[in-house]
Amino acid sequence: METSDTWIVERTGIHERRIAAPYETAAFMGTKAAAQALEAAGLEPSSIDAVICATTSGQNAFPSTACEIALALGIKAPIAFDVAAACAGFSYAYSLAHNMILCGQAQHVLIVGVDSLSHACANTDRTTIILFGDGAGACVLGASEEPGTLAIKLSSDPSRGDLLKLPFPKRGQDLAPGETNDGAYLYMKGNDVFKHAVTILASLVKDTLQEAGMSEDELDFLVPHQANLRIITATARKLKLDMSQVIVTLDKQGNTSAASVPLALDEGIRQGRIQRGHNLLLESFGGGFVWGGALVRY
Ligand code: ACO
Repeated sequence: METSDTWIVERTGIHERRIAAPYETAAFMGTKAAAQALEAAGLEPSSIDAVICATTSGQNAFPSTACEIALALGIKAPIAFDVAAACAGFSYAYSLAHNMILCGQAQHVLIVGVDSLSHACANTDRTTIILFGDGAGACVLGASEEPGTLAIKLSSDPSRGDLLKLPFPKRGQDLAPGETNDGAYLYMKGNDVFKHAVTILASLVKDTLQEAGMSEDELDFLVPHQANLRIITATARKLKLDMSQVIVTLDKQGNTSAASVPLALDEGIRQGRIQRGHNLLLESFGGGFVWGGALVRY
């Protein structure tokens, strides 16, 4: 198609992406990430009370991807379900996990963010096909005497739903005579989404800090949703953060939707940049519109 590496790198910051093979389903990738999270947490599958999977790329309406991951890992948790909140899925799943722990419903919650939206873009649409990569990230949230989650903010604006949309393919009686599934691809009015994302994320990070009664200079790292380097830079500027305090994985992974925040968190931790006791601001924004942030003491 008519595009260039220069255009993609300058407008998005993306240099490389990872594309899942047909057998690398959401459950397949999610299981790998979840196994690594359990290992990092030093926990056995039997310690997990709930599995929450943030995804819009699952193979089935049911069984959910969370149930498939639980089965693959031998997790016999009483609770397993998916959360569909596009690129903000991890923030929504995180909030649910936090509240389940707070109310005593669970001690350890496995949260997986996984998507393969590269498969959802029409390969003739240069405005979307260059953006999305596939992947999975996971973490375990556990009960503790010390507060680890200092503030959470979730929000939505359904009136903007048409700007970023991924319809399900239709089948059988849902298809009108002569109707096809040719339009069942991801649609995004990129420049409008961009403007909203910058404004919304600027307010989100300020509000999340305010909720925790914390100032920008107490923040150690921003772990942002990886949609566009220009959006990430604008958010960092709002927080007066140097880019060395921002975890960026977009250059190598593209936009992995619900996987992007946990993948960035994982990379920051495994590189030794994020240390125990650091204050992290996780944020994400996606189709719906939906968005969310969490201020976390790691
Ligand atoms: N290669 C070359 N030219 C292109 C390409 C391409 N791949 N794509 C678009 N263009 C052209 C356009 O047609 C347009 O041409 P025109 O001026 O002749 O009309 C020109 O480039 C500028 O297009 P814009 O859409 O205005 O480009 P913009 O600078 O806004 O960058 C982008 C596009 C990268 C998509 C940006 O808008 C963006 O990142 N948007 C936000 C993405 C986001 O945050 N999504 C939310 C999460 S995703 C989710 O929830 C699933």
